[in-house]
Order: sequence, then C-alpha cells, then structure tokens
Amino acid sequence: MTIEQSEYRQRRAALRQKIGQGTAIFHSAPLATMHNDVEYVYRQDSDFYYLTGFNESQAVAVLAPHHPEHQYILFVQPKDPLKETWTGRLWGVEAAKEAFGADQVYPITDFAKEILQYLNKAERIYYHLGRDNSFNSQILTLWQSLLSTYSKRGTGPIALEDTNHLMQPLRQVKSTAEIEMMRRAVEISTEAHNIARNITQAGKYEYEIQAEIEHIFRLRGGNGPAYPSIVASGQNSCILHYIENNRQMLDGDLLLIDAGCSYGYYNGDITRTFPVSGSFTPEQQAIYDLVLEAQLQAIEQVKPGLPYNTFHDRAVEVLVDGLLKLGLLVGSSEEIIEKEHYKPFYMHKTGHWLGLDVHDAGIYKCGENTWQNLQPGHIVTVEPGIYISPDIQPAEGQPDIPREWRGIGIRIEDDVLVTPDGNEILSAGVPK
Ligand code: GLY
Ligand code: MN
Ligand code: MN
Repeated sequence: MTIEQSEYRQRRAALRQKIGQGTAIFHSAPLATMHNDVEYVYRQDSDFYYLTGFNESQAVAVLAPHHPEHQYILFVQPKDPLKETWTGRLWGVEAAKEAFGADQVYPITDFAKEILQYLNKAERIYYHLGRDNSFNSQILTLWQSLLSTYSKRGTGPIALEDTNHLMQPLRQVKSTAEIEMMRRAVEISTEAHNIARNITQAGKYEYEIQAEIEHIFRLRGGNGPAYPSIVASGQNSCILHYIENNRQMLDGDLLLIDAGCSYGYYNGDITRTFPVSGSFTPEQQAIYDLVLEAQLQAIEQVKPGLPYNTFHDRAVEVLVDGLLKLGLLVGSSEEIIEKEHYKPFYMHKTGHWLGLDVHDAGIYKCGENTWQNLQPGHIVTVEPGIYISPDIQPAEGQPDIPREWRGIGIRIEDDVLVTPDGNEILSAGVPK
C-alpha cells in the first residue's frame, strides 16, 4: 500500500496554485545524532514528504511555477558508491528525476549556484524557517543579496512568507489514498492494543507489554511506534507522557496504554485504560465510566460543519458534571469551567489533528474567536481523561481529594474520521 506518484503531482499542483509567481523552497529534515557517530533512523520532514514522497536527507525541493522550463526541481545527494556501501542506497540525480517526476534534478552541492535562476524573477520566497539553522541562514542570505540588487534588476522576491498556512489546509483534508494508509496504521495499532490487553497480568513489567505492542507494529510492516509508547501502570497513569515503562504491575492497578503504529509515514494514536487483574475498584470504575461517557459524547460532536472546539467543550462539560456528582469538585459547573478549576484533573485538550504527524498539520483557529469547522476527510483524535495525581493540588476553594481516589489516571483515545454524514471511529476495534 502506498501513495501513487500521480497523487504527489496533484499535491504539488494544488500548492502551485497558491504560490502564483512565487517560489517555494522545502528542505529535508536534518539528520539527528543519537550518540557520538550514531544517528537516529532518518525520518523525512512531513511537508517535504507530502509534496515529494522522497525520503532521503540533504535534499531540497523547489516549486517555481513561473519558471519557463522547470516548475518542480529537486536537489539530492549524488550517487556515491563508497558512501552507499556504508549508509545505504541513494537515488542519485538521474534516477530521482525519473522516479519522482521532477523537471530538473541537481546534486545538492550545486544548490547555491542553481537556485538563483528560480529566485531572481520570483515575486516572493515561500519558506518555513525550520530546524536546520545553517540552511535557514543560507536562504536569508540569498534573499538579502537578491534584495540588494532589486533596484537594478527590477525583479526578485520582495517578501519571504512562511509555508505553514499554505500546507496546513492541504494536509488537513485526507485523500482516499491517505485514508487507506491511516486505516492500515490504525488497524495495526488496534491489533497491538488487543494483544496487549490479553497478555497483561499482575507481576509483569510494563516493558513486557510495550515489547509485544512494538513487536506487532514491525511484524505487520509498520515502521514502529508513531511516538514513544506509553505503558503506564498504577500512579504512572497520571503522568501524561510517561515513557520509562519499567514498573512491575500489581493486582489492583490500572494500566494506561497510549501507543500507535507508524505505517508508511501515517500514524495511529490510541489509548485504552483497563484494570491489570480484570476488575475495577469502585473509584476506578466511577472515573472510567465518566471518562467513557465524556468520550462518547465528544465523538458525537465530531461531524461536518461543527467548529473544531465543540467536541472538546462537550467533553469538559461531561467531565465537570461527573466530578461534581462524585463530590471531587464543588460549585457551579459554569463557574468551574470559566475559571478552569477542573484543570488539576484534566489539563490537556480533547484531541488533535492526526496524519503524517501525530499532532498533525492543520489549522485549529481561523481568528481569535473563530474555530475551524470540521469537514469530511479530517481526522482527529478524541481523548478525554482524568488524572488524579497522588499529590493533586485542587483549585482554590475546591475540596481535598480523599486517598482512595489518588493515583487513578484514565484516558480513552480513538482516531476519528469526519465523514459526510458524521464520523467513523477508525479504532473501534479496541474495546472500551
Ligand atoms: N500520544 C500522544 C497524544 O495522544 O497526543
Ligand atoms: Mn493523541
Ligand atoms: Mn495518544
């Protein structure tokens, strides 16, 4: 399963429409050092990958719609047999041109020389200041030198504009092929969660569960975890991004698993929480039921035309009402919500866009008080939770929390596709 070259071409055409007489420059993700001379497994920048499907480092992609000959240009590492013996195959200039449909491909070493012909008549440079500061400087220096000669030439980029606001609307609405990739990523994640639940028992260590989950990710052809897997038992479940995963699980614990598979660059992101030995304490049951109710009601608010924040607001209302009924909060729900006095229990948002990035490209707000409306093809997570940390500090005027509630952390997270009629829960195969 893969994204066809024709789709990458369509994506570039959509961006070209937006940049008119400008030139857009995208840089590959930098290599990252793990230690000394060992690098992390390379992962292409998501915008770069979305437009090119090209997964090598030290590359630049350029879109220059106004150029008479080349509208799509790649700069790549040249073939180098000795280097390839050590660190793997490279496409090289000729093969990259053919395989990735570029009008022209140059060796990356020629970037400074060749880029000028694509910039000197562009009205504007579109570029996102990224993680590679030396490349950022190179672009700024190029722009500066073009500006300094502008008055003599009468053409050239008079502005530099970020690419995020152009890329986000494109990436946010998933194509049919992307939805299939997402289905596969979530399907593998689903299988891993179901196995994890079946093998969990008191006495095992969190990492044993993590190992089985990540085994499935790779066994099914995924790249591995989409983010460090969270396997959090007992009080660890109150730490949102707990990743040590080294505690021995005990009878009476809850286990919170937040794990997702990355498949062909697309990501699942699923959380389930369940009792290690199969039955809840009354307090665990009460919190679980409440989080589940909040999640189910929030998912009902994921449908086309509703502003993005609607499902979060719904989850907060349900959680606050439930915490009031349980006596863990006191007062009026309106005031608690307005003053955010629920935040010691629920400190994160109810979801995020999901796709090539786990926290995916996508616009949440279109203005100070205007939220993006959901539309078919959007994929969001819906992930309310309640976290009663052992040392929870209630908000001002709120009651102290009795011991039997402390250490309970519960999150339930599904991956939800917005459809023309409402939504589809892609991760529905993991029981709640
Ligand atoms: N696993 C990261 C998140 O849920 O946002
Ligand atoms: Mn998430
Ligand atoms: Mn998650």
